Amino acid sequence: MIRVKGIILAGGSGTRLSPNTISVNKHLLAVYDKPMIYYPLSVLMLAEIEEILIISSPEDVNRFESLLGNGESLGISITYQSQEKPNGIPEALIIGEDFIGEDEVTLILGDNIFYGQGFTTLLRKAIKQHEYATVFGYRVKDPERFGVVEFNERKKVVSLEEKPDAPKSDFAVAGLYIYDHHAVDIAKHLYPSERGELEITDLNKEYLQRSQLNVQLLGRGFAWMDAGTHDSLFEASEFVKNIQQRQGFKLACIEEIAYYMGHISQRELMQIGNYMAKTDYGQYLIDIANRKHIEQYWDELDLHPMLEVTEHE
Ligand code: DAU
Repeated sequence: MIRVKGIILAGGSGTRLSPNTISVNKHLLAVYDKPMIYYPLSVLMLAEIEEILIISSPEDVNRFESLLGNGESLGISITYQSQEKPNGIPEALIIGEDFIGEDEVTLILGDNIFYGQGFTTLLRKAIKQHEYATVFGYRVKDPERFGVVEFNERKKVVSLEEKPDAPKSDFAVAGLYIYDHHAVDIAKHLYPSERGELEITDLNKEYLQRSQLNVQLLGRGFAWMDAGTHDSLFEASEFVKNIQQRQGFKLACIEEIAYYMGHISQRELMQIGNYMAKTDYGQYLIDIANRKHIEQYWDELDLHPMLEVTEHE
């Protein structure tokens, strides 16, 4: 049976966040109350992916390992590999070749944050129905900063371009990609672009040429951010703070997700909460561990509709 594995790419030079990133990897910086990597990790966990590979630079891999260990405390498996240099996003697939094997892979960029009612359901469905390659389009005001996807009047994809000067549409390609294992081979045959990197857009273009690229649009109800610049990092923190304070639940709380998904017990959650009891984060975990009838909280995590998806198919 083909399984779906997850890769988080969390290397790169982080130069756009200097001096914050001179001695700290960007993905370990805080987005409000938790490290940035919690956000992509929570996306993979909610998508029911239980085997995750984190790729970072050789000097940083150990720091991620000391944060997340082998994943046991979250009831999942996390392994680590290093990327010698930031040679481009598709290199993650080459580095992860043995990890991927004959399976499918969901690749997520470590600085991408997704949020929205129904996002987990949408992603689970996309993974279940997935064939070949699936990417996600999102309307933005500044498409020239991203990979850009152009559609014809029948909503069919006609072109993909990486950071074009004159974007042909307002739809950016988000840093979340689902591929079959052939992506590894395609990545191996790519050439570096003018900026000296292998480009994920070139890999997606190859799927497009083979008529094997599926683009899912994330509509108005979703928030997608990358936190790779001072402003976007600050805005992402503000966004998380506002939602959390307004609604009283946390975004990307990986321990909460592990608990609701049945990966860890109430006792284990309580232990983690007690360890951080002096913080609001720790108290939040303790409160959850003290809850009775946890099914009634599934909706908050978007878990309820997802379970229906699983049952009906
Ligand atoms: O955020 C979505 C965009 O990400 C896409 O729309 C673009 O098509 C895609 O090329 C990428 O653009 P960026 O210029 O934002 O990529 P950046 O170089 O910032 O890298 C994204 C993340 O991946 C970042 O967290 C660092 C990490 N990374 C990047 C490269 C190139 C690595 O770990 N290793 C690498 O070699």
